[in-house]
Amino acid sequence: MNVMEAIEGRHSVRAFIDKDVSDELLTKVVSAATCAPSWACTRPWIYYVAAGDKLKKIREEYLRLDAEGVEKNNDLFTMPKWPERENNNQLEWGRQRCRVQWNIDPNSTDPAEQARFAEIRKHMREMSTRFFDAPAVIFPCMDKSLHNWALYDMGAASMNIQLAAYENGLGCITAYHMGCYPDVLRRELGIPGNLAVLLGIAIGYKDEESCENRDKAVRTPVNEILTIVR
Ligand SMILES: Cc1cc2nc3c(=O)[nH]c(=O)nc-3n(C[C@H](O)[C@H](O)[C@H](O)COP(=O)(O)O)c2cc1C
Repeated sequence: MNVMEAIEGRHSVRAFIDKDVSDELLTKVVSAATCAPSWACTRPWIYYVAAGDKLKKIREEYLRLDAEGVEKNNDLFTMPKWPERENNNQLEWGRQRCRVQWNIDPNSTDPAEQARFAEIRKHMREMSTRFFDAPAVIFPCMDKSLHNWALYDMGAASMNIQLAAYENGLGCITAYHMGCYPDVLRRELGIPGNLAVLLGIAIGYKDEESCENRDKAVRTPVNEILTIVR
């Protein structure tokens, strides 16, 4: 597999088969992060991985807190309002997901269809709280005092992880929601208090049968995002 094949072939995976990922493979995949560029070689990345019984315990705790309505407390802030272009991109992707994965018309005014839509939204939310039932979750962390430039570096490192996973026959989903109870993660994984947990990257073997893996996210044509001036 060459680099462009990996870049174009990778997609988020939201359903996994019940198969463990070995420590050796997890180490190999996360080692790709160490090759990412960073501001003045500052290498802000630190990773914790939850798997096996530990992940089961964290999952149960997340589900309990969610059921009790405990407020989400991510270490990174979320955008309260997106600019129009990015907001429209999200809406376009969400509508496509409904149609391709769930066969639902998101614009339908039919009450039965709307009820199904509400059910699916609930299901999607629960799946991210369950870490998509993945066998392992990587939690990228960095010092809390670091800011935008380190996040730039962390994103590059995350992409390396996802491409290495793909090349090694694994799938990933990055999800903000998986970092929603960082104190649970700090306690269960021994993450020091000076580290921010950015989010989670669930990793495992793709469930080829699941409708949740049917979607191929929208890509913006390059001519719409590129200006070359000579
Ligand atoms: C920072 C970040 C946060 C994300 N959070 C979520 C999430 O909470 N739930 C989810 O289903 N996908 C999440 N994703 C995955 C994106 O929806 C996905 O990358 C995007 O739709 C493009 O699809 P692709 O990864 O298949 O190319 C996140 C991705 C990133 C980079």
